[in-house]
Amino acid sequence: MIRLPQQDSSLSRIVLLFAFATPVLAQPPLQTLIVGVDHRTTTSLNGDWHYLIDQSPGRALYTPTGSINDKSYGMNNHATIVGPHNEEYDFSTAPTLKVPGDWNTQVPQLFNYEGVVWYQRDFDAQPKPGSRTFLHIGAANYRSHVWVNQKRVCDHEGGYTPFDCEVTSVVHTGSNFVVIAVDATRLVDGIPSVGIDWFNYGGLTRDVSLVTVPKAFIDDYDVHLAHGPAWQAGNTELTGYVHVLDAPAGTAVTLDIPEAGVKTTVSTDAEGRAPFTVKASKLTLWSPESPKLYKVTLASGDDKVTDDIGFRDIRVDGTRILLNGKAVFLQGANMHAEAPVRGGRVNTDQDVTTIFGYLKDLNANFVRLAHYPHDERMERIADRDGIMVWSEIPLWQHISYDKPEVYAKATYMLNEMIRRDRNKASVILWSVSNETPNNATRTTFLTNLANEARKLDPTRLITSAIIGPAAHGNQMVNDDPFTKALDVVGQNEYIGWYTGVPEDADTMHWTLPEKPIIMSEFGAEAKAGNHGATNQRWTEEQQAYVLQHQLTMLAKIPQLRGTTPWILMDFRSPTRNIPHLQDGYNRKGLISEDGKKKQAFFTMQKAYKDHTVGKPE
Ligand code: GCU
Repeated sequence: MIRLPQQDSSLSRIVLLFAFATPVLAQPPLQTLIVGVDHRTTTSLNGDWHYLIDQSPGRALYTPTGSINDKSYGMNNHATIVGPHNEEYDFSTAPTLKVPGDWNTQVPQLFNYEGVVWYQRDFDAQPKPGSRTFLHIGAANYRSHVWVNQKRVCDHEGGYTPFDCEVTSVVHTGSNFVVIAVDATRLVDGIPSVGIDWFNYGGLTRDVSLVTVPKAFIDDYDVHLAHGPAWQAGNTELTGYVHVLDAPAGTAVTLDIPEAGVKTTVSTDAEGRAPFTVKASKLTLWSPESPKLYKVTLASGDDKVTDDIGFRDIRVDGTRILLNGKAVFLQGANMHAEAPVRGGRVNTDQDVTTIFGYLKDLNANFVRLAHYPHDERMERIADRDGIMVWSEIPLWQHISYDKPEVYAKATYMLNEMIRRDRNKASVILWSVSNETPNNATRTTFLTNLANEARKLDPTRLITSAIIGPAAHGNQMVNDDPFTKALDVVGQNEYIGWYTGVPEDADTMHWTLPEKPIIMSEFGAEAKAGNHGATNQRWTEEQQAYVLQHQLTMLAKIPQLRGTTPWILMDFRSPTRNIPHLQDGYNRKGLISEDGKKKQAFFTMQKAYKDHTVGKPE
């Protein structure tokens, strides 16, 4: 039985779809997601957690069919790994892992481990009468199953988005006991599926905390600049909604933005949702040049949350991208979520500062967070520093497009991504996929998903990265029907690396949709410090030479409105194994994984500084 989390209708509808489309492989129930947790007072559960490797999860977690069977689910026979110990294990004397953290880079024996690890820690709580307590998990890759005080509280699928488990009924005053089984196994029907070109770091890879809120509390909100059919200079109208979970109709909600001269009180409808529209007396719009953020306080009953929100307008006009009515060209780079120098999945505040330092040094105003939602810190810093963001769910290449339950998963992940970051001005593009096969089943799946994204957030642009077409002589034609569903088309291509020679780009002619185009991937591999002639692959010189010829080609594409070379930093990938050149890393970075800038970095840095890559209009 799939439990419907306390969600607003959109998410519950998905869960219902999910429930009735439940396939052979029973899927875990889906969870609440509280917006703005990083702006609430929480009790951190980061730190040392005991762990057990479980290479036989069928005994304690999944039945042999792999389905989750309530009878055996964590409670079967003597291998019930939800209590402190039994005759097979003892958490109190087990080794520990750091949370947040992937297990791969913490324990050498776990470097290539992609199975189940059971995490455990004690925590103290003093729940106030009438309050509610949620366990917030910033991300756990890939599936997670949670018990508190030996009671199962929630499950989640998806390795890159947060979820919140309500634990009110099981947490007691004093010491409590949480166990989380994290399963990094890649699933054919997962998102992403089994074949990926990045490292499948497993574990509790982002912050874990306890969130205490009143009985009726603000779990979701959307505060944005009114987005009419056309850009209106001087527009200072703010609109959106505040959702108060479990509030009766008519509950008062206050929106207060002192610096914008906004204070208004509205009330919730029967669904707990309080829509509002209000004029700000003065408003400085957010932009890379002036990344203005406002303190926005939302209050209802005993609950209050204050967020930092920027207001801006993003839209397409013909083949132009308009930010606050002005045509922009997006000069950026791709990023995977890995810590500079240290490596691993976790992005600390310092890591994010380093990464945005690289982007600023590159003269970038844009970043594509490939291929999945990154740590929320990335968007927070992007908001603060004025870097525009492409955010994406991990529908990477081959997914089971023919399965309704996979569509439901994709829609749920899309909801989680949009819900977490819809109040981040830096995010201008939602991407629903990367390099997917051009066939009717996939086009229907992704067109529906793109339309779902647009319905969830009509204020942003919807995009996807399309795989590079085969060249026919000096012609490259993107006639992918899926692009009809997109506002902005991302185009990947590797002329001079995977196809042809670098000089082919000089005379390449592109036929592309009459829409804004972002060349969302291009580049070549080079090991930092490996030098040679420009026709010697794997040298810094050849990588820079490929980019120079790419730039010649890109400048001729009239509707090009952005570029993100693949990729800012070398990153771990299990598919990159040429000894002494790759050694487990994809080497298309402009910077090595340990922070060395390659010649290619300076090629892009100069092109961006001189604004020679493309034109805003
Ligand atoms: C693809 C894909 C990336 C991959 C890159 C590469 O375009 O989108 O995820 O890493 O190419 O082959 O390096």
